[in-house]
Amino acid sequence: MSGANAVKEDRLWQRHADMAKLGGTPKGGVNRQALSPEDAAARNQLARWAKMRGFAVFTDAIGNLFVRKDGTDAAAAPVMSGSHMDSQPTGGRFDGMYGVLAAFEALEALEDAGVTTRRPVMAVAWTNEEGSRFQPGAMGSAVFAGAYRLDEMLEQKDWKGVVLRDALADTLKAAPAPLREGAPGFAVDSYIEAHIEQGPRLENERKTIGVVTAIQGSRRYIVTIDGEEAHAGTTPRAARKDAYAAATRLAAALYEATADAHDMLRFTIGRVEVSPGSPNTVPGKVTFTIDMRHPDDAVLVEREAMIERLLVEKTKPCSASLQKVTNVPPTNFDPAVIDLVRAKASGLGLSNMDMPSGAGHDAMHIARLCPAGMIFVPCERGISHNEIENATPSDLAAGTRVLVEVLEALANR
Ligand code: HGY
Ligand code: MN
Ligand code: MN
Repeated sequence: MSGANAVKEDRLWQRHADMAKLGGTPKGGVNRQALSPEDAAARNQLARWAKMRGFAVFTDAIGNLFVRKDGTDAAAAPVMSGSHMDSQPTGGRFDGMYGVLAAFEALEALEDAGVTTRRPVMAVAWTNEEGSRFQPGAMGSAVFAGAYRLDEMLEQKDWKGVVLRDALADTLKAAPAPLREGAPGFAVDSYIEAHIEQGPRLENERKTIGVVTAIQGSRRYIVTIDGEEAHAGTTPRAARKDAYAAATRLAAALYEATADAHDMLRFTIGRVEVSPGSPNTVPGKVTFTIDMRHPDDAVLVEREAMIERLLVEKTKPCSASLQKVTNVPPTNFDPAVIDLVRAKASGLGLSNMDMPSGAGHDAMHIARLCPAGMIFVPCERGISHNEIENATPSDLAAGTRVLVEVLEALANR
């Protein structure tokens, strides 16, 4: 039996249902934020399943969780597949989790089919891909790839002031796994990530498999506007340094300046904090996040200069500062891996199309370490980062069959 034919659609679907209970929300989504008790529960669940199969399980100093199916050549660099188990606060049950469970299902299917590979094949759950609780996102994969420094990441704080180092220690205590000593990172032969598309193209074009060619560039910022707290009843407008009034002027100007004729630039203000947050005190401080993305880095460079200009122009008499949190240039995947994904999807008789990714993924960092690629499957109406996110058991299984075929080819080359 081939590995692809050993993929069990029901087993894969049931594992999604089991994981969706960990941080499950009343609307049927998940709130399983990075390094939360719910994240620890998902780590324990994956490790339990892995140990039942006799696969090796270990973690690293940033909490990435690895599952290894040995190959015949223990010295050979492994082929790796995975994604993330942390979610948005109002996330869906497939974003990230599909890539981890597809990778695990691939290991099981290879085992069930009695397929041996020269290289070890590994599944991985990267720490804190979403970057919602702790910034920056794709943190575990970036530290593994040497893009971010471990010591700096351990000092990051969430919005309530919790230090990542402490949240990580709590998580690894709640979900213990053998620790691979030393700095995160080791030689990887190649990496392939399965993920829901998080957009409507596959569904609209009635294709089952997305052969992902690239990931657009993304930059994230925190704007801080400092004004002066004052009495809402006694302070004339002319005497105010109203940080919220300044924030709204700046935001309005930024939305206007980032509208483009082809609707290619993605500009999002996702989180705003107003302090002191009292109805009868003029706001003295406002912070808000900016998430900006585009396939062409030159556009991001030019738009960043525009943000810096408007920051000064629109916030007087308050002062404003721009903290640059992340800057991940556009990623082009390895042509040979892209061709392999396309060939395997076609070989399985699955409709497929080449396409770029609008969303960021851990693969954008791992692609700087080794040949990498991604496999997309459709999600209902392209909706994601939303509790109603949905996919079908057959599409998830189809993407996993392509994954098994690609992993087997990479692990035996
Ligand atoms: O933001 C992203 O693109 C990813 O879903 N974390
Ligand atoms: Mn994701
Ligand atoms: Mn996401």
